[in-house]
Amino acid sequence: CGIVGYIGTKEKRDFLIHGLKELEYRGYDSAGIAVLKEGEISSFKATGKLSNLDHKTENFSSSGFGLGIGHTRWATHGKPTEANAHPHWGEFSYIIHNGIIENYKEIKDELLKEGITFLSQTDTEVAVHLFEKNVRELGDCFKAFEKTIASLHGAYAILLITKKAPDVIFFAKNAVPLLLGRSPEHEVYFSSSDAPLIGHVNEVVYLEDGEYGWVEKNAITLIKNNTKQHLDFKPLTHDKLSAQKDGYRYFMEKEIYEQSIVVGETLMGRIKENTIVLDELSHIDFSAIDAIKICACGTSYHAALSACYMFERLSKIRTNVEIASEFRYKEPLLDPKTLFIVISQSGETADTLEALKMAKRGGMPTLAICNVDNSSIVRTADATILTRAGIEKGVASTKAFATQVITLWLLSLYVAQIKECIAPERLNEEISALLKIPLVLKVNEQTHEKIRRLSKRYLHGHGFFFIGRDLFYPLALEGALKLKEISYLHAEGYPAGEMKHGPIALADSELFTIALMPKNLLYDKMKSNVEELGARDSTLLIISPEPFDLADDFIKTNAHTHMMGEFFEMMLITQLLALEISIRLGNDVDMPRNLAKSVTVE
Ligand code: G6P
Repeated sequence: CGIVGYIGTKEKRDFLIHGLKELEYRGYDSAGIAVLKEGEISSFKATGKLSNLDHKTENFSSSGFGLGIGHTRWATHGKPTEANAHPHWGEFSYIIHNGIIENYKEIKDELLKEGITFLSQTDTEVAVHLFEKNVRELGDCFKAFEKTIASLHGAYAILLITKKAPDVIFFAKNAVPLLLGRSPEHEVYFSSSDAPLIGHVNEVVYLEDGEYGWVEKNAITLIKNNTKQHLDFKPLTHDKLSAQKDGYRYFMEKEIYEQSIVVGETLMGRIKENTIVLDELSHIDFSAIDAIKICACGTSYHAALSACYMFERLSKIRTNVEIASEFRYKEPLLDPKTLFIVISQSGETADTLEALKMAKRGGMPTLAICNVDNSSIVRTADATILTRAGIEKGVASTKAFATQVITLWLLSLYVAQIKECIAPERLNEEISALLKIPLVLKVNEQTHEKIRRLSKRYLHGHGFFFIGRDLFYPLALEGALKLKEISYLHAEGYPAGEMKHGPIALADSELFTIALMPKNLLYDKMKSNVEELGARDSTLLIISPEPFDLADDFIKTNAHTHMMGEFFEMMLITQLLALEISIRLGNDVDMPRNLAKSVTVE
């Protein structure tokens, strides 16, 4: 979900709708706004994409001093209906919330006993009724808000407005992001991320967990543990340029094409005179580390799996990878001699963030590989390597993945260097292969056109198996994830050598095998695995530099001397394939159903 807020004299609707547009990638099941002016609250909600709310509020205007809050939702509790859309209200107050209130059932039961009626199935609604109950009991909105926040367990970024304090926005933050920004005219803005604030404010405070407070006409109060806090404003420096489509049909397409440039950014200043330079890591003592554990979710998890091969192969260090939501509840052994790495595009994924906090509490040294500076994960980890992909808007991650893998490759070479377990010639080879990747990632228009034409044959069938071995297995997983995210077709990534142990039973002409067959890694082994599938009539799409007899379709890749060249070229092809299939199916490529770019609930 995403939230925005504003207090000042400008047209409230414009900022709220425009701000939510910037956050829409975080969730787009429904959206809503509420504006409080001269003691009266106007509220609008609409299901589906934000454009519906935009139309609904076309004739609403609210300049002059006042306040407004807005929310775009990714449903957790309750279906994506208008009743469940935010804001939620009681008799005189309106609330928006991102996160999950874990004890909402207990609170709701208490409130129901007192005769309060609920309009939605959400966890959020309990907070507004609890606040109003506290106002009635205490006769003071500020004390009532404090008491309400103290009763809530779980994750929340909350904005609340009330007719009983018509010049105030109340806010609270725990475990999900919330920023407060201030304009040169001293108007105050709120947002879940900095994108909506660009162009409006020149300084921001990234609120900490457990902080809450209120903004009045000329004052901001920030409290934590019953103590007033200093407001630590930081300059907001981003520019907006990178967030436009620039003539591409979709952000995802633009981001695929951008990869060639952004991986150059990832490498910038990190290779000097045939050595890997990662100054960010200067205070990590690698001599005290004998293993690596990586946690992540989604696409970042696939980058983590690829790193596992690289760390063991290049850095000779025992590495293991876990999905963050699994790691959290398995009572994991936390060894201070193991480096704990988290990988996250957004830096806000709740499961990854919580896994990181656990590792820290367990005394493990921690490192974040992240795309968003100042995100919660970056602020929590001992050290960070930024991937420098720039803002990624497509919900299906592309350039973030490419830059993660590059960063992890750099890191594995860096560790190998420190541990002196890589021969200088091998290091040189790796570095020259690394430096070629920006070129590898340049999209060849002819290949794109071929994929576009070929995609029409892959719009049906009973499933896709992306298969690969070694490093190309995580790539197969990622290829399958891309396809299912935006095409809604069933796709699986599988280790090619494992197909014979079960999935081959599915093989027939309606089963599409997408085989990643690099020349530099286990080509002959792959060949046998693909032949086994071809013999059972599976439709074969072969991605390889070598033509293949049984192929129904063939996408020829360039000759590379290093397997990572093949890795990135095949990554590009699988991304374009998913894109073109999705476009042909008429889906919304950038905002696929049911998904959100950044999942700040567990
Ligand atoms: C969501 C997104 C995925 C992403 C995952 C992890 O599910 O839809 O594309 O890979 O979160 O996100 P992170 O920001 O931690 O990399």
